[in-house]
Amino acid sequence: MQDLIAALNAAMGDTGLGEDRATVRRVQQLMRSYVSQSQDWAQYAVYHEGTRYTRNLVDDGNGKYNLLILVWAEGQASPIHDHAGSHCMMKLLAGQLDEQLYAWPSSGPDGQGESLRLRRTAALKANSVAYMHDKLGLHRIANPSLSSKAVSLHLYSPPYSFCKTFDEQTGAAVASRCAAERLTCPGTSINSLPATYTCSATEPSLAGQAQASAITSM
Ligand SMILES: [Fe+2]
Repeated sequence: MQDLIAALNAAMGDTGLGEDRATVRRVQQLMRSYVSQSQDWAQYAVYHEGTRYTRNLVDDGNGKYNLLILVWAEGQASPIHDHAGSHCMMKLLAGQLDEQLYAWPSSGPDGQGESLRLRRTAALKANSVAYMHDKLGLHRIANPSLSSKAVSLHLYSPPYSFCKTFDEQTGAAVASRCAAERLTCPGTSINSLPATYTCSATEPSLAGQAQASAITSM
């Protein structure tokens, strides 16, 4: 993981991802070339029981990007959301995830009244990298498994803290917080965490760590 972070920093230079397609392809290739090994990312795969899903900040890219690990509980799904004009790359590290791609509301980016049109559904393959940008539409990510959690690695550049989520039936949009947090389980040695560690209710106060419950999109 540290090798990947170093390579991402080198590839993005001082500017992060913008209009240069060659840099976007280079970063996508770097994400693709990383082979998931749970010992690399277990310390970031922290899940708090009762939250929607957790967004654990791995690296802030010196302000050029955010690299996150998301942990999805059984059957969890994101809202339909945009990406605030940023590039989004998503790699499946463990489990299963499905992507549903929607068209923007026909009445415009803040449209309301008409249901969103589903354009396609795809099952993400392990170690593959899905690319998403507002130019391609909106999407929703879901863990279809009712018996296993899923873990994914996400890169957003430029980084952002707010995006929009959309009502599937009306197309209505609302601003949503979608920042990353450095989540831990208090009282637990980070080095001893197994992959996809769920903080138990008996552990000391999760106060200050519970922001994950207020984060609604990705
Ligand atoms: Fe997304």
